[in-house]
Amino acid sequence: MAESDNSNCLKGYSYAEPEIQQFVKDFSKLILEDALIPQTDPNTKVLNFKQPLDLQKYLDLEIYEESIPREKLLELGKKVIGGSIVSGHPHFFNTMYTAIDPYSLFGAWLTEALNCNVHTYEVSPVMVTLENYIFKKISSVIGYPDGEGIFCPGSSFSNLTAIHLARFRYNSTLKEKGMFTCEPMTILKSEDAHYSIEKGASFLGFGTDNVVTIKTDDRGRIVPKDLEHKICQCKQNVAEFKHRRFNGKAAHNHLHFYKIVPAFQQEAKTVSITQQLVSEQQLSRYQRDTYKQLQGRLTSLWDQYEEDSIRTSDFLRSVGHLYAPPVPQPETLPESDSEDSDYESD
Ligand SMILES: Cc1ncc(COP(=O)(O)O)c(C=O)c1O
Repeated sequence: MAESDNSNCLKGYSYAEPEIQQFVKDFSKLILEDALIPQTDPNTKVLNFKQPLDLQKYLDLEIYEESIPREKLLELGKKVIGGSIVSGHPHFFNTMYTAIDPYSLFGAWLTEALNCNVHTYEVSPVMVTLENYIFKKISSVIGYPDGEGIFCPGSSFSNLTAIHLARFRYNSTLKEKGMFTCEPMTILKSEDAHYSIEKGASFLGFGTDNVVTIKTDDRGRIVPKDLEHKICQCKQNVAEFKHRRFNGKAAHNHLHFYKIVPAFQQEAKTVSITQQLVSEQQLSRYQRDTYKQLQGRLTSLWDQYEEDSIRTSDFLRSVGHLYAPPVPQPETLPESDSEDSDYESD
């Protein structure tokens, strides 16, 4: 009884059924004839391009309540192939692509057919054994015979993992402590680097403001002089951060002697870097962006005032705007308030 129940529930899904076997043969034929054979035919189109809205209609994206017959599914498969790039086409030039070779396809189909996880040896003895072997092989090729690894689902995740590992190597306590107890860290990247570096900085808690860009030359190589310069700037910012943090602590009303001594001891550790920066003439004033911009606007207003290109009242009003919430313009004020002759000098 239980057996027949079970077979009922598998009806339409069991590979023992002739209809299902026929379906597998049909879709293999479709993939071979429509997707794979054209890969090596230079006379086919690289892409039958359709505008996005046309493509949506062509694909019939509606999800229906009722199931659809297998023939319809094959038709949809044909459309998916028909609207896609022939990525192995000899006229398709793009990064990261090559034709799918038959032996890799066999491995890919085998993996899909087995539908295994790789999380424990018990559920997937073969895949776990293969994975371990591949990690050892790849890591030994690049000089780490006892290396470990992880397969990444793409380049963004690879970059994110690389940043994470670099940070761990720099300070392994971060694993337990997080970023809260450490000094600010900076990521240096080439100006040609992919934007996934910023994504990584954001995901991992560095903040995108802490990604510093290094100039490259006309062949995409990092310019060493600029790298050197940016490293010095970063060191300086770290030293300045400590200085301001210490000032913050020292300004506290109830800072006892027994608290200030360890703070000084901690601070003393930055002396050598400060010495180095002073000797390299790399120390300059640290200014937050907000104040830098404010200072710039004030200077520009002052220059305009000195050149007589703005009136005293305009100058004062503009300065007021910089420091305070906007005030209404004279024409929007009631008549009695619109006089600003108090400010007039000319
Ligand atoms: C150098 C580099 N990093 C990251 C990426 C992003 O890759 P993915 O789309 O796999 O995340 C690319 C993709 O072009 C890349 O070329």
